[in-house]
Amino acid sequence: MARAKTQFVCQNCGTVHSRWAGKCDGCGEWNTIVEDSPTGGIGAGPGRAAKKGKPVSLTSLSGEIEDAPRIETKITELDRVTGGGIVRGSAILVGGDPGIGKSTLLMQAAAALSRGGHSVVYVSGEEAVAQVRLRAQRLGAADCDVMLAAETNVEDILATLALERRPDLVIIDSIQTLWSDMAESAPGTVTQVRTGAQAMVRFAKQTGAAVVLVGHVTKEGQIAGPRVVEHMVDAVLYFEGDRGHHYRILRTVKNRFGPTDEIGVFEMSDKGLREVANPSELFLGERNDKAPGASVFAGMEGTRPVLVEVQALVAPSTLGTPRRAVVGWDSARLSMILAVLEAHCGVRLGQHDVYLNVAGGYRISEPAADMAVASALVSSLAGLALPADCVYFGEISLSGAVRPVAHTAQRLKEAEKLGFGRAVLPQGSAELPARNNGNWHLVEALPDLVASIAGSAAQQVQQEDE
Ligand code: TYD
Ligand code: MG
Repeated sequence: MARAKTQFVCQNCGTVHSRWAGKCDGCGEWNTIVEDSPTGGIGAGPGRAAKKGKPVSLTSLSGEIEDAPRIETKITELDRVTGGGIVRGSAILVGGDPGIGKSTLLMQAAAALSRGGHSVVYVSGEEAVAQVRLRAQRLGAADCDVMLAAETNVEDILATLALERRPDLVIIDSIQTLWSDMAESAPGTVTQVRTGAQAMVRFAKQTGAAVVLVGHVTKEGQIAGPRVVEHMVDAVLYFEGDRGHHYRILRTVKNRFGPTDEIGVFEMSDKGLREVANPSELFLGERNDKAPGASVFAGMEGTRPVLVEVQALVAPSTLGTPRRAVVGWDSARLSMILAVLEAHCGVRLGQHDVYLNVAGGYRISEPAADMAVASALVSSLAGLALPADCVYFGEISLSGAVRPVAHTAQRLKEAEKLGFGRAVLPQGSAELPARNNGNWHLVEALPDLVASIAGSAAQQVQQEDE
């Protein structure tokens, strides 16, 4: 008999290697390669006794399209992120760090759906039934008609689901605990996770039930990352947040049935997750507007404007290579802004440590934040507080020019709504609201911004002298 061939699979990215190595060539992670047997599994490709295929009918691009039937959870933030509700027959992956609140969110969604008359099955592979019940009690959902099982074997789960009246939603918490008889490797390995996820996705397509898979993401990549599942499912949502804060952000990374740039904002309370309808108020809540080094960025998250505070601290460095530390923003982008400030505005930061932080554990991904970052840096270096009622946005190019960004009107409207009467924005911004009451400062290049900060400081000093 031929010896079973073994292979080595990276548990972070799924790259297959022929021999073990300390570092994966695919993703560059260390200690993620594990021995695995390539046998079997649903979707492992045709075996030796491949059956003869039967032809399928080909069709044209034009024709009737039905709107995807959706199940609304009535949790507005969740419905927004999924694009108006969970699509029947779709598979969704909800990823996030352990302890961030995935099980809590999904239990709340399950409860809300069952209250709306939908049948929901919650399969927990991590916690015993008693633990899940305890959480449900805490969330005030103990009376809901959610069917519960503590099971990890894929075949047993599918057999159980086949007995039930067709469920509308099946929640699998989590894919890392799933194991199938079809795959030989240990639970939690890429092969098992992939096999289990594939079986559940197939179940969703066949029965029209929506399936939500929970996946832990660990930075160490010790457990099979849900990365290998991302391409199989219809939508990928990431639940993120900072342990030190109560805010949790649900972000769409992929969505075959809706937009991918939406976020849902929640706050973790002692009775579960609470929806946050106006995130700006939350992110600006602890603001001290007299302190130098803080600016307010008027950002956009999908269709929603969000105001957040950007904090910078610039201090003389005692180190040969000054420190640059960034939380909530791209550090490469910070280096770029520092270089532009230095080259085009004569702002010398080479001998300074620079710390940048986005308040509230929020993460900005928009280049439009460049202006807010630059003004926070200049404000901190000069020791001058920026005007308390001013917002900043605009993209900075390497030449020092300030480029317009999209959604100007929406950003300004949100700012006005929250009492920010002033704005510094790029010259040439489109869709400027007609009425300009003189509180908008249009800048063409970064030196203008630096000059205006210095100018407003001079005004402040004058006013104080009078
Ligand atoms: P959990 O949903 O178990 O996280 P995950 O499934 O992502 O691992 O939530 C874990 C944390 O949430 C835990 O530290 C306790 C906290 N929590 C609350 O603060 N309030 C609550 O009502 C609940 C249910 C949990
Ligand atoms: Mg959990």
